[in-house]
Amino acid sequence: MFNFDFYNPTRILFGKDRLGSIDKYVPTDATVLITFGGGSAKKSGLTDKVKTILGKRKVYEFGGIEPNPHYETLIKAIEIVRSKNIDFILAVGGGSVIDGTKFISLASNYKGDPRELLKYGFRHIPFDALGKVVPFGTVLTLPATGSEMNNGAVISYEHGKFPVMSEAAFPKFSILDPTITFTLPKVQVANGVIDAFVHTMEQYMTFPVDAKVQDRIAEGLLQTLIEIGQTTVSEPENYDARANLVWSATMALNGIIGTGVPQDWTTHMIGHELTALFGIDHGQTLAIIFPAVLEVRRIQKRAKLLQYAERIWHIKNGSEEEKIDLAIQKTSEFFESLGVRTHLSLYNVNADKIPVVIEQLKAHGLTALSETQDLTLDISQKILERAM
Ligand code: NZQ
Ligand code: ZN
Repeated sequence: MFNFDFYNPTRILFGKDRLGSIDKYVPTDATVLITFGGGSAKKSGLTDKVKTILGKRKVYEFGGIEPNPHYETLIKAIEIVRSKNIDFILAVGGGSVIDGTKFISLASNYKGDPRELLKYGFRHIPFDALGKVVPFGTVLTLPATGSEMNNGAVISYEHGKFPVMSEAAFPKFSILDPTITFTLPKVQVANGVIDAFVHTMEQYMTFPVDAKVQDRIAEGLLQTLIEIGQTTVSEPENYDARANLVWSATMALNGIIGTGVPQDWTTHMIGHELTALFGIDHGQTLAIIFPAVLEVRRIQKRAKLLQYAERIWHIKNGSEEEKIDLAIQKTSEFFESLGVRTHLSLYNVNADKIPVVIEQLKAHGLTALSETQDLTLDISQKILERAM
């Protein structure tokens, strides 16, 4: 196992009827900005409930944070934070609203051009570069990204998606009430299952470092997602299935399973380009790219692929190659069983677009991906060809 630091200060308030905790954890004298998305939280009455709970606090609202939140939208919220002296933000939404809120929180008192914060990539933005960070909490409406308990955000700017990371970007608290997610369309639930699955796999499917705890927790998450995936898509109000999805998605990217192990974020990096170029949902891009990564990197990932085949899919018979083939096939079939297509051509993107994706990867400096940084643009090209 590698050395590691682990830090995660986010308070999780999980279960039914937890909205009332907002009153306990938002300072009583705060001026609050509620951030939300395109309208689902308004329509369901959730933002009104939150406002009622905030009681006598002074409250402003900022709606319209779109999926894959755009810098230009967030800048408008930053103006409100500055002009109204907002001192607490409450994000009510999925990964996009939470990520957008993280950026608003970090950038509101930043002295320079906020676009500079998009240039750090996976390097953490230090506290002293930021000025006063506006604290925020979240009410999660979509289980998928893990953003509710981590310190990362992904912000869209021009034709790119840019990671923004900082120890200052952890939510103070997150309310995880599975019943709030019952209104999700099936396609978003399926996307969420796949996002959580692939987050887990990108911290697991590398090379062995004898990290038994991390491996076993990751395997528990994968098995849970396989067990409840179809149920939670087809039975939106099945509380137990949804509760297990919510906690799996949070656990998949709150840092715990990534401690002390190699990580390979290739699928996410290529997937982000597909979203930015063609508007394909985040979860769908992962369903397209991940099986192709396993196929193209089967030599580098051989030992873990065999472990995955045996422990997750219980494949006992056949040669090692056959076991790996079957494990990859079962992974694709699992995604498809949730109603998500796993080939790029099925999203009306054909092979003639591969050079455009490669150009974007190059423009964003994503030329040495993987757990060993040996994944060149040529290999990304092979992955995209395999994903067609
Ligand atoms: O905007 P509204 O009207 O709220 O509708 C949203 C949106 O259209 C809808 N929705 C959310 N909760 C709902 C609901 N509809 C009905 N009922 C509810 N309870 O769902 C749609 C998608 O929402 P979005 O927030 O975009 O989805 P998701 O949570 O999958 O977030 C995706 C974003 O997160 C980033 C992605 O790149 C993408 O921008 N990621 C963030 C990560 C992180 N911070 O750690 C890691 C991830 O890998 C990911 O990259
Ligand atoms: Zn993701």
